[in-house]
Amino acid sequence: MKLTIAVLPGDGIGPEVTREAIKALKAIAVAFDHQFSFPSALVGATAIDATGDPLPQKTLELCNSSDAILFGAIGHPKYDNDPTAPVRPEQGLLALRKELGLFANIRPVKAYDMLLHHSPLKQDRIQGTDISIYRELTGGIYFGKKQLNEAGTEASDLCVYTKHEIERIAHLAFQAARTRKKKVTLVDKANVLESSRLWRKVVTELAKDYPDVTLDFLFVDNAAMQLILNPKQFDVILTENMFGDILSDEASVIGGSIGLLASASVGGDIGLFEPIHGSFPQATGKGIANPIASILSAGMLLTHFGLRKEAQRIEKAVEKALELSVTTPDLNPANTLITTSQVGDFIEDFILNPHDSNVNFQNIHLGQSTII
Ligand code: IPM
Ligand code: MN
Repeated sequence: MKLTIAVLPGDGIGPEVTREAIKALKAIAVAFDHQFSFPSALVGATAIDATGDPLPQKTLELCNSSDAILFGAIGHPKYDNDPTAPVRPEQGLLALRKELGLFANIRPVKAYDMLLHHSPLKQDRIQGTDISIYRELTGGIYFGKKQLNEAGTEASDLCVYTKHEIERIAHLAFQAARTRKKKVTLVDKANVLESSRLWRKVVTELAKDYPDVTLDFLFVDNAAMQLILNPKQFDVILTENMFGDILSDEASVIGGSIGLLASASVGGDIGLFEPIHGSFPQATGKGIANPIASILSAGMLLTHFGLRKEAQRIEKAVEKALELSVTTPDLNPANTLITTSQVGDFIEDFILNPHDSNVNFQNIHLGQSTII
């Protein structure tokens, strides 16, 4: 298959983790005889520095003329502590999601057996967890009208949803549940919010089209607790934009590191694939950022194009890296030797030589190249 993949490395650790995902995709292209190209463009704080705009027109044009987008991370501390900044890096990502119509953000959460001991949660609670979060991505409080009065003493963000916006992501969530454990949990705050009551009404009605899927409901405060108490009760979680943002960071604790959580944003013609973690500015350039979330996002990109065997090779390579502790310090605190790019080298090598990884593991410890 021939694919043009626009690469938007963004800020902080974005470029370093994205580099490793490209490495994995290039190895897949060699192993499975595909042709992938990787034109890149600026986004976020890096783009503001260069052009004054977090999503320059050139970047948007590149995205629109590509088959998919591989996104790194966005954000810079100089904006976080300046509430008066006229432009913010995050606006680049939000505008991109909106422009491309990426209304569904899919975030898989899995407890890997070999990492159970890394989670601060009790092993028997999390073992076997396999959740797919369907987060609405282009509506709600993120995109509603924002206001600040002239005195700067009163502010508001409007949370708006339409029936259509709810239906289109709900269909995707139910369809996904059909291929899984056939359960959808709608997370909302219907005891307080009008917009949540609309979600309940619309999703309850739509569920009649999927009689083989069980639908249940949780208020978001309870859902936050249940995710930690008993995550195995969940299959597909369907929720609005901000609840999904918060719950997916919380859910990453189950996997042992936020550095493992990948995501796919779909809905328009062009999908965007990105790790859920942020730009982790303190780690920039240190070689300690975990590239696995970015590499697994590349795997989701392959699945999106029906390249399941290729995606499975990436997933297998990641599992092997985790099994052999070829991991960055977030998952391997005692080890300071294995860097972001060494994890990427190992995964690249496994993709090219899936039966040879033990030898390469030793090479990594010797600091040698693993590329044969
Ligand atoms: C995410 C991020 C973004 C969001 C930020 C960077 C705007 O936290 O993708 O989860 O809130 O959606
Ligand atoms: Mn987030």
